[in-house]
Amino acid sequence: MKSGLEDVVAAETKLSDVDGAAGRLIIRGVSLDDLVATSRYEDVVALLLDGLFDAHIDAASIRSQLGAARVALFAHVEAADPADPALLALPPVDAMRALLARIEDGDDLASAIRLMAAPAVFLPAVLRLQNGDMPIKPDASLSQSGDILRMLSGRVPTTEQTAGLDAYLVTISDHGLNASTFASRVIASTHAGLTSSVLAAVSALKGPLHGGAPGPVLDMLDGVGKPENARAWLSHALDHGERLMGFGHRIYRVRDPRADALKTALKPIFASGQADAGRIALAEAIEAAALALLRERKPDRPLDVNVEYYTALLLDALGFPRNAFTGVFAIGRTVGWIAHAREQTLDGRLIRPQSRYVGPLPKAA
Ligand code: COA
Repeated sequence: MKSGLEDVVAAETKLSDVDGAAGRLIIRGVSLDDLVATSRYEDVVALLLDGLFDAHIDAASIRSQLGAARVALFAHVEAADPADPALLALPPVDAMRALLARIEDGDDLASAIRLMAAPAVFLPAVLRLQNGDMPIKPDASLSQSGDILRMLSGRVPTTEQTAGLDAYLVTISDHGLNASTFASRVIASTHAGLTSSVLAAVSALKGPLHGGAPGPVLDMLDGVGKPENARAWLSHALDHGERLMGFGHRIYRVRDPRADALKTALKPIFASGQADAGRIALAEAIEAAALALLRERKPDRPLDVNVEYYTALLLDALGFPRNAFTGVFAIGRTVGWIAHAREQTLDGRLIRPQSRYVGPLPKAA
């Protein structure tokens, strides 16, 4: 038995390949760097879903279908009681999940479009309600990224901000058989439907060992405060058995390529004065100190920067509160969960592994 199923191959996929030794990510035949440089969110949706539904898929039609779906889904926000404690008191990702659970299960492209549009509408609405503001209606004419930022702040985002969110959503669209994607495939293997797959995946994603890390990364940046405090602060955390959030990965033994893609994406936002440039200098100082300390303390386990580290900086600069970062991750990863669910339904069998019983036996035995 492999603890955590490490190194176990549990599916064949044409969707993405994570090469942990080389630090390389390929999404449907395109390297991450090329994908981020050339694609918007809608392009990567078309790339990932192509051939998985009985319908023609291209980026332009995805953009208009997502826009229409966002507008239609706003009815769920309008129908919700704005004083409902499930919306106001839950962490944003949980409130978003509660709204997602109202979408009926299905297996066609229309169901997939609804599920990709839904978190983009529900997360900004939940955040505004929790802040005492009225949710803002979607604008079907905008791209998914542009509309998310507009529904969040009430202002039309700048080109740099929209490009930054696009780069983020593209970068995190799919990533092999991570815990939430595996959860999505397990549910899909029972033919329960895409909503059920996505709900299971969101539930797996929210844990701090998976998609719940970027909020704590920002807490760490705030805790360190100044570059010169980095080594002492991080040493203290490690002395107390804490893990440094944004470092380490099950597959990557080198730098996570998504970290650099995001670092590149956030630079125009900081360079144009739309965010505090001192944050990048602080993040770089903490990164250097953390890598040095991890090398000293865990010489046998290569630990490097992962995707969550620069996610924290980017999403903060785009105006998302830190308790919403996991929800934004879910907005971007939903296309990957759906693509894997469809691949599983089309080509796979019921996933039903064995366990080895190590408990007590009945007396007679
Ligand atoms: N900080 C300090 N030590 C770390 C560490 C981190 N971020 N990540 C791993 N380690 C250490 C563990 O303490 C363990 O040491 P030990 O063998 O002396 O006990 C060793 O490295 C192996 O850790 P393990 O938990 O077995 O590795 P994993 O493959 O199961 O864990 C993560 C992968 C991502 C869960 C882990 O690196 C982690 O917790 N990182 C921080 C959270 C995070 O950034 N999550 C986002 C992932 S994209």
